[in-house]
Amino acid sequence: MINNLKILAAPVQGITDRHWRNAHNEIFGGVNGYYSPFMRIERGEMRKRDLADVNPASNTVSHFTPQVLACQPQDAVKMVGTLKEMGYNEIDINLGCPFPPIALHHKGSGLLQYPAEVEAMLNALASIEGISYSVKMRLGWDNPGQWRLILPLMEVINPLHITIHPRTGRQQYKGELDLDGFSAILKECHYPLVYNGGVKTLDDIDKINEQFPEVKAVMIGRGLIEDPAMLCPEKALAANYREFHSRLLAAYESQLNGGEHQLLTKMKSLWDYFLPTAPRKALKAIKKATSMAKYNTAVSELFLSL
Ligand SMILES: Cc1cc2nc3c(=O)[nH]c(=O)nc-3n(C[C@H](O)[C@H](O)[C@H](O)COP(=O)(O)O)c2cc1C
Repeated sequence: MINNLKILAAPVQGITDRHWRNAHNEIFGGVNGYYSPFMRIERGEMRKRDLADVNPASNTVSHFTPQVLACQPQDAVKMVGTLKEMGYNEIDINLGCPFPPIALHHKGSGLLQYPAEVEAMLNALASIEGISYSVKMRLGWDNPGQWRLILPLMEVINPLHITIHPRTGRQQYKGELDLDGFSAILKECHYPLVYNGGVKTLDDIDKINEQFPEVKAVMIGRGLIEDPAMLCPEKALAANYREFHSRLLAAYESQLNGGEHQLLTKMKSLWDYFLPTAPRKALKAIKKATSMAKYNTAVSELFLSL
């Protein structure tokens, strides 16, 4: 908690998997709840790697919630049913994904322009007993007022909270955050609202608290990936970053069986975000590495330079 605000770690596909979440919680901490990247149905089934990621035995963080992508009712029901069998009773519904191949198929934020489809999905999910839901959404798909037709539909699931990323789906992750749009939904919404978007420092959390005192929690995505010690500056030590990286490397080394190239690609994707204020030359050497040997040398040099 910071200033009485709960801090939630946002799901980021390809980065905040169980290895990242567990290592983050153990080495840095400061987060009150972690979420899985969205799970989806592919060729009629849930993906094996998504199921492995939410396996309760592999998730050691204290408050962990799996997320499912908003989609057609039968697929949503299938995912929630599977997660219920795994022992989960709290699930987050993703109405925010802006990625066109997803959104243009009436999923994620793409569904926000079809209230009747949202209603059908929520009604189907509400009929599953013993599950509480939260929702993560944007203001709309191509219009920041589209939430007005969506919010009343939430009644049937009575969400624990709604996380708002104040952009439209069309904006993806760029362009101004629409804080007036966030204010507008805050005024109308009688469910607890969580703010998400652009939070990179403790000061940013204070600003959200001052500007929106009714907000109960802040969800942080890229800020925490860039600096996993963002919430606890006293832990911003080279030794902690090195340990964090070593744990991820070891986990992917044993999990991935596609050889060196696959491992290298996976580790480099972390560095698309991780420690952007490290010396540029060191970061460049990591991005340019063509083998794990070169990668490991470049990473060691970067940690020495911190
Ligand atoms: C590459 C990438 C993948 C993401 N994957 C997910 C996801 O699986 N589920 C989700 O709800 N949001 C996802 N998001 C959105 C983030 O959770 C978050 O809402 C967004 O990054 C804005 O918050 P931030 O400015 O704190 O990063 C993703 C964002 C990015 C950039």
